[in-house]
Amino acid sequence: MWPFLPYNPPAVHTVKAIYPGSFDPLTNGHLDLIARGAKFVDTLVVAILDNEEKHPLFTVAERVEMLTEATRRFGNVSVATFDGLLVEFAQKQGARIVLRGIRAISDYEYELQMALMNRRLSAEIETLFLMPAEEYSYVSSRLIKQVFRLGGSVEGLVPPIVLERLKAHPQSRMR
Ligand code: PNS
Repeated sequence: MWPFLPYNPPAVHTVKAIYPGSFDPLTNGHLDLIARGAKFVDTLVVAILDNEEKHPLFTVAERVEMLTEATRRFGNVSVATFDGLLVEFAQKQGARIVLRGIRAISDYEYELQMALMNRRLSAEIETLFLMPAEEYSYVSSRLIKQVFRLGGSVEGLVPPIVLERLKAHPQSRMR
């Protein structure tokens, strides 16, 4: 009898993750995290929270433009916007992973609260944390805006497109 070798093809399984945030503006720390995350998943959706209550410096449309430009080199990264609950957005996208960055212990409490709340809201969605490169461990969108507004240089801390847009923005610089 012809030897019968059972063939169990691996289940087609693609991993999709959401990297949510305000990205007001995108920093090289965010970009570093996107690069790290994109290596481990099939598809990474960078999701910008559409929340005008936070009085952002850049509109959502401007942030989409900057993120799209800065992530163009990644074949598996796309940019989207969302409002409402993050877990609902993740479910609609068919993603079960939420990616977040932890720079220092000070980030931990806020991130833990969000991860546990999201888990309570949707037990199937897991939050995975990555650490950005040490050189960006002190970089935040808040500090970028503050330093730039006060006339300091943020070169090397944000992608070129963001630097360009900061320089062109009427409210980003005091002097
Ligand atoms: O860059 P940020 O501001 O730290 O990102 C925060 C963000 C967008 C991830 C968070 O505010 C969020 O997920 N908002 C959506 C509302 C939500 O789902 N809230 C319940 C879980 S905390």
